[in-house]
Amino acid sequence: MPNLQGNAVLITGGATGIGRAIVRHFASEGARLCVMCISDEQADSLRDEFGGQVATIVGDVRNLKDNQKAVAQTEERFGRLDTFIGNAGVWDFITPLEQQPADLIESICDDLFGINVKGYALGAYACLPALRKSKGAMIFTASTSSFFTGGGGPIYVASKHAVIGLIKQLAKEVAPDVRVNGVAPGGTITNLSGSPSSQHAGARMSEIPGIGPLLEGMTPLGYAAEPEDHVPLYAMLACRESSKYMTGTTVLSDGGLGVG
Ligand SMILES: NC(=O)c1ccc[n+]([C@@H]2O[C@H](COP(=O)([O-])OP(=O)(O)OC[C@H]3O[C@@H](n4cnc5c(N)ncnc54)[C@H](O)[C@@H]3O)[C@@H](O)[C@H]2O)c1
Repeated sequence: MPNLQGNAVLITGGATGIGRAIVRHFASEGARLCVMCISDEQADSLRDEFGGQVATIVGDVRNLKDNQKAVAQTEERFGRLDTFIGNAGVWDFITPLEQQPADLIESICDDLFGINVKGYALGAYACLPALRKSKGAMIFTASTSSFFTGGGGPIYVASKHAVIGLIKQLAKEVAPDVRVNGVAPGGTITNLSGSPSSQHAGARMSEIPGIGPLLEGMTPLGYAAEPEDHVPLYAMLACRESSKYMTGTTVLSDGGLGVG
C-alpha cells in the first residue's frame, strides 16, 4: 500500500468529482492537504467535511499569483510541499468544431486551454521550487482524450493531448529531483462542467440524458467509473516508494475504453 502519511499535498479542483475523491482518500491515509478551489461555496463544503484537516484557498488556476499563494499557504501550513496534483478542468461537451458559435469560439478556446493547459503549467511553475526541495512529485489529471478521439470535441481533446506534452517535457526537465506523471481517467460520471464562456457554462456532465448507459456501452469493463476508481493510481504516483522509477508516464484508468 502506498504510504501517504504526512505527505503534504496541493491539489487544484479538489472540491468536487475526481479531486474530492482524491482528497477524501489521501486525508484518510494521513496526508496533509491544501485544496485550491474556485469559490467560497466549494471551500465551505470542504471545511464541512474535513474541518481543519484540509486547508483551502480560493483561486483561479489561470492566474499565476493564485497558484503562488496556494503554494505559499501549503508551505506555511505544513512546512513543505511533497505532491502537486493538477486536476482542475472543464469540458466542451463533445461539441464538433463547426458547431461552436462564432461569437463564442475564441473565448471557449481560451477557457479550455487556459484552465486545462495553462492552469497546469502555472501550477507546476509555482510548485517547482518547493518540490525540488522536497524531491517531490507532480501528478496531472489527463484523460482518455489525451490519447483517443470521442471523449470530447476537438478543443477539449487538443487541450488534453497537450497535457501529455507538458508531462513528458517537464519530467525530463525536472528530473532527477521531481517526478512528473499523469492519470488518464475514462468516462466518470461527475459534474464536470462546460467552459465558463460557452453555451455549456452551467451544464454538468452528470445531467446529460443517458450518459450512464452510453459510457457503459463504450467501455469493455462494462461500467462507467466512479471518481474513487482512479484514486489508488494517484496514491501510487504520490508515494516515492510505490512508483520510484516512474516519471513522464501517464497511466490509463479507462475500463479498457482505449482498446475499443
Ligand atoms: N469526468 C470524466 O469523465 C473525466 C474523464 C477524464 C478526465 N477528466 C478530468 O478530470 C478532472 C476533474 O474533473 P471531474 O470530472 O472531477 O469534474 P469536476 O467538475 O467535479 O472537477 C473539476 C474541478 O475544477 C474546478 N475548476 C474549473 N475551473 C477552474 C479554475 N479556473 N480554477 C480553479 N478551479 C477550477 C471546478 O470548480 C471543479 O471543482 C478534469 O481535469 C477533467 O478534465 C474527467
